[in-house]
Amino acid sequence: ASHVESDLVNVLYTEEQIQARLAELARDIERDYEGEDLLIVGILRGAVMVMADLARSFTRHLEMDWMAVSSYGSGTKSSGVVRILKDLDTDISGRHVVIVDEIIDTGLTLSWLTSNLASRGPASVAICTLLRKPEALQMPVDVKYVGWDIPNEFVVGYGLDFDEKYRNLRDIGTLAPHVYS
Ligand code: PRP
Ligand code: MG
Repeated sequence: ASHVESDLVNVLYTEEQIQARLAELARDIERDYEGEDLLIVGILRGAVMVMADLARSFTRHLEMDWMAVSSYGSGTKSSGVVRILKDLDTDISGRHVVIVDEIIDTGLTLSWLTSNLASRGPASVAICTLLRKPEALQMPVDVKYVGWDIPNEFVVGYGLDFDEKYRNLRDIGTLAPHVYS
């Protein structure tokens, strides 16, 4: 299909629901870090949409930085080994950091990233994710802010891709079977 929205078989979360939940998460974060300096770190590329909308839900000052990471090997994350493609531009020593991602699947990415950032001497490191799949978790990840727990289904949209497409959908949903075949 040429229209990207028409490939969704089931919308799990609409644009409106996503924005409302992100506003709640931003209020929680503002409350927890009141009076503190705050740096939020988005994990490229999937977290671009969440970062943009979450950051604009804040009424306080904050700084934004980005990291890009990749698993070794071709596509599979089973090794749990991650390499940094783009590191922070910011020195985080003594600073409060909130890592922002759009989904935690196996937990390997954020488990590794959390310990990597923690080794740089920050005041604190916490995780905010829009989605989490509890049934897919392979590594324990301490998540402070989560939008929704979802079933172990393949979802796309709002930063989430299938074969690098569908990231630009405003909603989050599951793909129609004809897309895979
Ligand atoms: C996806 C997603 C998370 C990560 C979660 O990113 O955006 O960052 O996988 O998976 P995990 O919990 O099993 O580690 P991906 O590495 O596919 O790259 P992308 O953000 O560029 O899509
Ligand atoms: Mg990602």
